Amino acid sequence: MAARRDDPARAVAARAKLTRHLIAEGAIRDERVAAAFQRVPRHLFVPRVPLRVAYADDVVLMKRDAEGMVISSVSQPSIIAVMLEQAAIRPGDHVLEIGSGGYNAALLRELTGPAGRVTTADIDPDVVGRAREGLTCAGYDDVRVLQADGEFGVPGDAPYDRIVVTVTAWDIPPAWVDQLRPGGRIVVPLRLGGQTRSIAFEEVEGHLESSSAVMCGFVNMQGAGAHPDDDVPELAVWEGAELSVQAHRVGAELPPGFHLVRRHHTFTVRRLAGAGS
Ligand SMILES: C[S@@+](CC[C@H](N)C(=O)[O-])C[C@H]1O[C@@H](n2cnc3c(N)ncnc32)[C@H](O)[C@@H]1O
Repeated sequence: MAARRDDPARAVAARAKLTRHLIAEGAIRDERVAAAFQRVPRHLFVPRVPLRVAYADDVVLMKRDAEGMVISSVSQPSIIAVMLEQAAIRPGDHVLEIGSGGYNAALLRELTGPAGRVTTADIDPDVVGRAREGLTCAGYDDVRVLQADGEFGVPGDAPYDRIVVTVTAWDIPPAWVDQLRPGGRIVVPLRLGGQTRSIAFEEVEGHLESSSAVMCGFVNMQGAGAHPDDDVPELAVWEGAELSVQAHRVGAELPPGFHLVRRHHTFTVRRLAGAGS
């Protein structure tokens, strides 16, 4: 297994296959984003898993809390791609990523180019250590990785042209707006009405305007911006409904005769075979 992981030709081929898949799915449209996916070795950010898992279009779960809730992951390539497209990173941009893991920070570093800068912050010291290790190993040691509660941004490195948030938020804290350059963009998975959508906001003359929204699923924000609970019980659940929730939470709320079928980063409600209508 280790020999396969360490075989550069296999990793290059796996990256090319994943990139082709993301283009075919419509997650990647910009050729600069495609080039970044071709270059960044995802397997170095998900140690101990086989190449086939490292280059599948799937999330890799990295850490759970004491109740078994996932609190850290390396995100699914297709949602990463969609968010990078939403962010429209330009060469020379200074980007803040909130919620680290290393992989997305490396992609951001590719997109910002030699004149750009990337700062990434995670609240969890284990994640900070893992992200740093992966970035160094993959040759992106000029990405600044620090432990911080992203609710307050990273004022020391501000201002930012782009703020890319990779953890579910319930609001846009003032710090993000304060630390954004005029005309800058924030891309954030926002929890609204029981569903999570990655929304791109652009700063226009002192206010934020949303320009796109895509359904997604992310782990929940910890720290000062944490929200007490998921709002699954308020959801009207019907067959075919698309949900972006922690599956084990909604499972208990479903009426008898229904179950969840995973569709990439969301879930679809389906009637169990044989259950009446
Ligand atoms: C989905 S993971 C990030 C994935 C990562 N960007 C990647 O490259 O795949 C979400 C991360 O957000 C972190 N997080 C949660 N609350 C946070 C907060 N308030 N500030 C910063 N990071 C936070 C978690 O520790 C977790 O590692």
